[in-house]
Amino acid sequence: MYYLGIDLGTSSVKLLLCDEKLNILSSHSEDYPIFYPQDGWSEQNPEDWWSATKKGIKKIGESHDLAQVQALSFGGQMHGLVALDSDNDVIRRAILWNDGRTGKQVEYLNQTVGTEFLIQETGNIAYAGFTAPKILWLRDNEPENFDKIKHILLPKDYLTFCFTGQYATDYSDASGMLLLDVKNRRWSKKMLDICGIDNSVMPKLFESYEVVGAVLPTVAKELGLSSNCVVTAGAGDNAAAAIGTGTLGNGRCNLSLGTSGTIFISSDHYIPMEHSELHSFCHADGNYHVMGCILTAASANRWWIEDILKSDDYNQDAAIIEVEQEERLGENNVFFMPYMMGERSPLNDEHVRGAFIGLSMNTDRISLQQAIFEGVSFALRDCLEAAKDRGLNIHATTITGGGAKSEIWKVILADILNLDIIEPIIEEGPSLGAVLLAMWGADKIKGYKDILDLTQSANYSSHQVISPNPERVKKYENKYRQFRSLYPALKDFYRPQ
Ligand code: XUL
Repeated sequence: MYYLGIDLGTSSVKLLLCDEKLNILSSHSEDYPIFYPQDGWSEQNPEDWWSATKKGIKKIGESHDLAQVQALSFGGQMHGLVALDSDNDVIRRAILWNDGRTGKQVEYLNQTVGTEFLIQETGNIAYAGFTAPKILWLRDNEPENFDKIKHILLPKDYLTFCFTGQYATDYSDASGMLLLDVKNRRWSKKMLDICGIDNSVMPKLFESYEVVGAVLPTVAKELGLSSNCVVTAGAGDNAAAAIGTGTLGNGRCNLSLGTSGTIFISSDHYIPMEHSELHSFCHADGNYHVMGCILTAASANRWWIEDILKSDDYNQDAAIIEVEQEERLGENNVFFMPYMMGERSPLNDEHVRGAFIGLSMNTDRISLQQAIFEGVSFALRDCLEAAKDRGLNIHATTITGGGAKSEIWKVILADILNLDIIEPIIEEGPSLGAVLLAMWGADKIKGYKDILDLTQSANYSSHQVISPNPERVKKYENKYRQFRSLYPALKDFYRPQ
């Protein structure tokens, strides 16, 4: 039997086909466009997600018998608003997790409704990327679209709808809407009222490993799947990545270096985020987690290499930093502020933007490349510090995402975060997690002990650990203090005039 994991990312959908021992049989990814209609806005077409997913499955079907797929599941970019009308048509392009248009609505939620109330109802405060402020934005700015809303879904839930015809979501992803009572795993009636939407608009809630339904016969036929193939609810991409890296139980940590950067700490109990800049969400294993999310991580590197250097060689300058690491690491006088889409954790500031600071006539391209690796790592360190403030102390972390392919970036992260970085064999965290959630739903595995056993044997059997270098940790400690002083010095510069 086969299991299919689908990771609906921001730049592409990644598909992973595995057998029950978690051997990878096939993997494939398909890109789709992202639209930036205004500075700080970001949108995608849900129909593009579905076409790309189907295209990817068909591609895998060219070399594998997809009728053997017993179950499929998802990891998905979180928080995006997908609104359907009474004909199940998408009303407008989805507004994504890194879209910053909702400043006014966030201010209303945090200041007028009040953070104390929000934390009590949902465990979290409002951020521009969360779904509730987007619903309010739609009501305030596109009332004709708001009035048409019959169903609200998160991005991966749109795929579930296309596969099964069901309106469903899971607790981990629903946590990022600011509409879920995270502690009690149910919609918050008060929050729905504040957003002016009825409970009937909301998808049904499932645990990530629960079966939502079978693949619709028409879809099964088109894709070569069996109509007995079941679909489990899946998870937000970070929770799915945590499943794929065995970040379960209490106090384990996973770092993700994708379009966003996240630090994800699993917990066996609910931790409300009083006055903190981190998120308190449900985990995909039925438990909870705490997470910090920076909006620009590997995407800053992609911007630098592809858009600015007009290259596709990610290793050219990185290799030089790697060879010259003794002289270079901890010695860079250039700082990079990675806030190209504003920032979520811990700054909660949709106005701030990215910057290189400290340029001199000696600055070369390598220093700028290194500054990007370091700036993103410093921003993640800000999240780690917020976790420490909440009494969450960790010493080691797994890592996933495209950025994790860079050896030197992982060395820099280990030094800046002062954590052991445990490298997985399979980098595809969310799609691997989705495979495991599919297996769980199909009763191939039961609960998190089986997941830990499977991921340990398949993903970390000969793992490598990158440990911090004590001398560089000291140097980076000073650099981090400098980095930390930059945002307070510059934030007023970005206030709207
Ligand atoms: C998490 C978040 C991002 C997206 C990216 O809160 O917004 O990690 O899920 O896919």
